[in-house]
Amino acid sequence: MRKPEPRLQRKLLAWLLGPLTLILALDTGAAYWTSVHYSNLAYDRALHEIAREIVLHVKPAAGRPRLELSQAAANILLMDAQDRLFFRVTAADGAVLGGDTTLPPPQLGPNPGEPRFYQAEVHGQPVRMVAARMPVAETAAAPIVLVQVAETLNKRNRLAWEMLASVVLPQVLLIFITIMVVWFGVSRGLEPLQRLRRAVSNRSHLDLSPIDMQDVPGEVRPVVEEVNELMARLARTFDFQNRFVADAAHQLKTPVSGLKAQIELALRETEPQRVQHSLAQLYISADRLSRLVRQLLSLARNEPGALHSVQLQPLDLNAFALEVSMDWVPNALKRSIDLGFEGVETPLTIAADRDRLRELINNLIDNAIRYSPPGGTVTVRTAVVGEGQCRLAISDDGPRIPVAERARIFERFHRLLGTQEDGSGLGLAIVSEIATLHRARILLEEDTDGVGNTFSVFFEARPAEPL
Ligand SMILES: Nc1ncnc2c1ncn2[C@@H]1O[C@H](COP(=O)(O)OP(=O)(O)OP(=O)(O)O)[C@@H](O)[C@H]1O
Ligand SMILES: [Mg+2]
Repeated sequence: MRKPEPRLQRKLLAWLLGPLTLILALDTGAAYWTSVHYSNLAYDRALHEIAREIVLHVKPAAGRPRLELSQAAANILLMDAQDRLFFRVTAADGAVLGGDTTLPPPQLGPNPGEPRFYQAEVHGQPVRMVAARMPVAETAAAPIVLVQVAETLNKRNRLAWEMLASVVLPQVLLIFITIMVVWFGVSRGLEPLQRLRRAVSNRSHLDLSPIDMQDVPGEVRPVVEEVNELMARLARTFDFQNRFVADAAHQLKTPVSGLKAQIELALRETEPQRVQHSLAQLYISADRLSRLVRQLLSLARNEPGALHSVQLQPLDLNAFALEVSMDWVPNALKRSIDLGFEGVETPLTIAADRDRLRELINNLIDNAIRYSPPGGTVTVRTAVVGEGQCRLAISDDGPRIPVAERARIFERFHRLLGTQEDGSGLGLAIVSEIATLHRARILLEEDTDGVGNTFSVFFEARPAEPL
């Protein structure tokens, strides 16, 4: 199943809002906890204060201390507008000296002078309680009593609610505002990207003009520049292809009409000998046409950047050039051309596609033989040159190619004026494409012997690597 595409906006929002909300929530929790904790401490201290007041009313006596606290005094001490308070004083021997006998015993025996605060339940109500052991007088021998004071939780609960309202509500509002601001900011910040997306998706597939760079944010500028560069290349390729198709159609039209005319002529012939002659002519024309079609296919197949993959394998250029040259011997003999080969002793390993390289050499030798006058010499040479380079050179005795034409003859359908030989001007265009696929360089020079031309192809001498 396809994973949903990562949306920049969604990611940004998640990364900003997630941590921000968490931080704010933690901060709210901490603020709430701290304020409730410190106000509870203050209430606890007040509770302890009451316990100390009560102990002032315990008088040492012979045997057991006595609690001298009138009901009126007790009422004043334990008076509170919101909560009910309870107390109990217990002597060291466990006897209750006064107060509420139903109070639960202290959870842990507190150390003398150190009060202990805890939650408990009195008469079915939750309470906060303090238990403290205190001497009844200043003297060292004064007896110790245990004082417990309990208070219901109304005050504390109300405070907690008030804290919640005063601390948490503004924080929640803050979180909400933060979310809105971040959301708005991210959306605004990404607006140029949305515009860019719309600009691209609204385009016609035929529109290869560059995307307007104005307004494109700096971060995506390199991407858009690359896309524009790609569009420019595509536009050039389309243009080239369109012209090629038009050229090819034009080139095919003439021989096909020629064929048709020849067939019509042959059909009208009655004399067997003339029919035979017409058929022979027809064969030559059909052969020419089939060569043209093959060349057009080859051009399409070797177009650099086309979808066909090229597998370059290690190949000995020396042996291979000799093998291909040998195939041309009968043809050369027919034209009285002296076809020679000058190689090197050691193998010259290059990375090449056999079939394509054969086509390259064939085209060069074909030209050399065809454009050299009868009796001329054509020589195929291989050599090592400079740093890790191999050279394949084909020299002929043909008419000198003017310097101004040296680049143009590699263009499709380009032929030199005055060329008598048959041909469509595609051979060298194919050579050039195949050389590019091999990352090889072509050089056209005047032949060293002063007659004719030398076509050299320079290959990198290296073992094949997968491309
Ligand atoms: N070895 C050569 N000597 C002289 N002129 C040449 C040589 N090779 C090519 N040319 C010139 O360059 C032109 C282009 O060559 P190219 O091989 O591309 O086409 P072509 O030979 O005319 O036709 P084909 O498509 O059949 O090969 C030729 O028409 C010819 O004028
Ligand atoms: Mg040719």
